[in-house]
Amino acid sequence: WRQKGCAVAILALDQGTSGSKAIVVDEDGIHAVVENPIHPQYLPGGAVEQDPIELYRSVVEAGTEAVAKAGKPIEGVSLANQGETILAWDPETGEPLTQCIVWQDRRSEVVVERLREHAEEIHQRTGLVLDSYFTAPKMVWLRENCTREGVVTTTDTWMLHRLTGEFVTDVSTASRSLLFNVDDVAWDPRLIEIFGLQDERLPRAVACDEIVGMTTVFGGEIPVGGLIVDQQAALFAERCLERGQAKCTYGTGAFILVNMGDSAPRFDNGLTTSVAWQLRGRTTYCSDGQVYTAASAVRWMQEMGIVEGAAEMDQIAAPDPGGVICAPSFAGLAAPWWKPDAGAFIAGMKLATGKPEIVRAVLDGIACQIAELSDLTREELGAPLTRLRVDGGLTKSVTLMQSQADMLQAPIETYPSAHATALGTAACMRLALDPELAVEDGPYEWEAEASYEPRRTAADVTVYRTAWRNAVDATLEI
Ligand code: G3P
Repeated sequence: WRQKGCAVAILALDQGTSGSKAIVVDEDGIHAVVENPIHPQYLPGGAVEQDPIELYRSVVEAGTEAVAKAGKPIEGVSLANQGETILAWDPETGEPLTQCIVWQDRRSEVVVERLREHAEEIHQRTGLVLDSYFTAPKMVWLRENCTREGVVTTTDTWMLHRLTGEFVTDVSTASRSLLFNVDDVAWDPRLIEIFGLQDERLPRAVACDEIVGMTTVFGGEIPVGGLIVDQQAALFAERCLERGQAKCTYGTGAFILVNMGDSAPRFDNGLTTSVAWQLRGRTTYCSDGQVYTAASAVRWMQEMGIVEGAAEMDQIAAPDPGGVICAPSFAGLAAPWWKPDAGAFIAGMKLATGKPEIVRAVLDGIACQIAELSDLTREELGAPLTRLRVDGGLTKSVTLMQSQADMLQAPIETYPSAHATALGTAACMRLALDPELAVEDGPYEWEAEASYEPRRTAADVTVYRTAWRNAVDATLEI
């Protein structure tokens, strides 16, 4: 991830579901990394909440420590954010008025059900699907159940207000809201009306290569910009700059994004489209497929005593799941099923089934879901994906990566840094700070750390994937 041409040190912040990361990066590489965990609360009724103060502190403390460790003057601060996590806050004081309602929270399903008749219009205007994963249903739910005071926004807007005093989000984050017209790249009054959010003050949606303000929080007065939602940040870092190039990030969830070029396709198979980035006045789009629980599924295995930690999975996993099939959908299923209530399942266990088969089946289940999502882009692209770039903690699992190459029947290339998201927002900030750079000069060059070729035959994989899909469909009928 080194590249000549830009001699500025950037503090890149990656505010994620399970932690906040800060890195300091310049043309010589990464000089400091600090990561602070945050602790989402998984509550009954599908509620998932975060403490906003813990979240903000984790960002500021990680940033401050990273700057001190790097010992370099910082010339820009950039931010990648979780996307669909919201809170209400007081715009006068910046104080939070509610907990953060996390993207995995399913309580706004009641709002979605009420608005079903508008599903097709919403899909056409946004490229998304009417689902409680996205921001707008959560905003309505929060207004009806928590408070009518203050403003209700995604967490990036709140943090940026604290850092700079500005009231902004970026177009990629806005495009995940169900209130944003994906073709016009602007808030859509008709969508705002459908959700009954006409009284809300919405932030200015800026391009990803804009400087939005100045902050003094990290010492001195430093420009803030390079704003982008986290999955899209990783897509950019991994240099998926051409239509058809794809990445998957295996974090709390796993998200496969495919560059769709400069117009926004509407998928009729359940896949969603959002803004990848807006850079140098041009908008690039991506398809977006979601597996809500990846590392979350590993955490569940840990809690059940099946594995001690993610690092142990490769030692334990059986070479073959022995007929065991698992969909680790602990927080519902997204595309193409869109079943927020679907639970995870393990089927086909025998008396001889042990931890090795279960671990194997969970990892194969994640890989199968990603392969299903990849298949959904085939018609639009006119061809299957030729390779998949991958990043995130679970890429350390050789078992998962090999399974992914097999299920996809395409090679996998692992990104050499554990910080793709932070490097993606830093890349946007490089463009913001240096108008001379072209879009392709933004992301740092990289070479794959490891690659995996498919080993199982296509016929063998088809049998397993068909059984897996049938098991998912059968479970959804229960
Ligand atoms: O849509 C939510 C997703 O972007 C969160 O990513 O890395 O926190 O699992 P992560």
